[in-house]
Amino acid sequence: MDKIKTSAPGKCILFGEHAVVYGEPAISMAIQLRTECVIEKITNEAEPVIKINFLNYKKSFTFNNLDGVKKDLPKEFYQVAVGLQIFADKYQVQISNIEITLNSEIWSGSGLGSSASIAVSLMGALSSYYNVNLDKETINQLSYEMEKEVHGTPSGIDNMTSTFGNLFLFQKGEMETIRNPRGFHLLIIYSGIPHNTGSAVSIVRELKNKDPNRWDEIIDKIGSIAKKARREIFFRNFKKLGHLMNENQDLLAELGLSTKEIDEIIEICSANGVYGAKLTGAGAGGCVIALADKNILIKLTDILKKRGFESILSEIDKEGLKIHE
Ligand code: PMV
Repeated sequence: MDKIKTSAPGKCILFGEHAVVYGEPAISMAIQLRTECVIEKITNEAEPVIKINFLNYKKSFTFNNLDGVKKDLPKEFYQVAVGLQIFADKYQVQISNIEITLNSEIWSGSGLGSSASIAVSLMGALSSYYNVNLDKETINQLSYEMEKEVHGTPSGIDNMTSTFGNLFLFQKGEMETIRNPRGFHLLIIYSGIPHNTGSAVSIVRELKNKDPNRWDEIIDKIGSIAKKARREIFFRNFKKLGHLMNENQDLLAELGLSTKEIDEIIEICSANGVYGAKLTGAGAGGCVIALADKNILIKLTDILKKRGFESILSEIDKEGLKIHE
């Protein structure tokens, strides 16, 4: 194969972030924002090369071999070096004379799973380009390896959502698809502040270590909200679901994960007729999600824009990883 193109979606967590790290359930949804990965053969270079382009960052790098990639690829892109090494080691492939181009629609550091979608699209593309033809479960596992190298102890929810798409309940590495409700629209609003998942996870861990009784109770409550939410999604009870989002937000705020921008966005959403709104992902920055009927969310987009907040309307992405050519 001389050229392959794949893409994989980002995600947003509807319920259960942070608690999921401690074994509680969480609900995750694949969104209609994607990362695309193209791998092409390079034929006319005198020396072996590996080229890597990050289109949305307008950055390109050229290396002689995989060791060069690992040594010299800037830290913010290091994940790709990790992915190439994992793939080369597992499948005994010599990665050389290829050009990898990554392009993402997902705001990075926003809690929308941009790093997982890079991992999944890259692993999917390597698998097809080198004719290893892995199934989605294996691509999910390899992407998880990549995520672990970069983020420490992720729960695995991001890579799973990006690989398989859809809306599902995730607990301890297992997923259960929730039948997709019709008319399920979310507005995803960027707070303008990038977040750091690792440090947000550490904030919660430190709280738990200091006063386990108090904080374990909050984690349990977040878990039980996720269980209730699954039922309300199934019955399309969006009003109740909105209440549960608000309750979940209050608990995340108690954990210290809200910010003044997040609070401001939630206030604007509540004043404009949403069923509910909460931060999504690690918090302390990143994005807010709001649930309402589509026409309300469309109006809200303009209102938020005037207040300086970018947002995007999304339905559920049902495909996950896609191999395009
Ligand atoms: O910031 P994000 O979208 O990567 O979400 C992190 C979600 C956490 O539950 C805080 C961590 C995890 O690994 O599940």
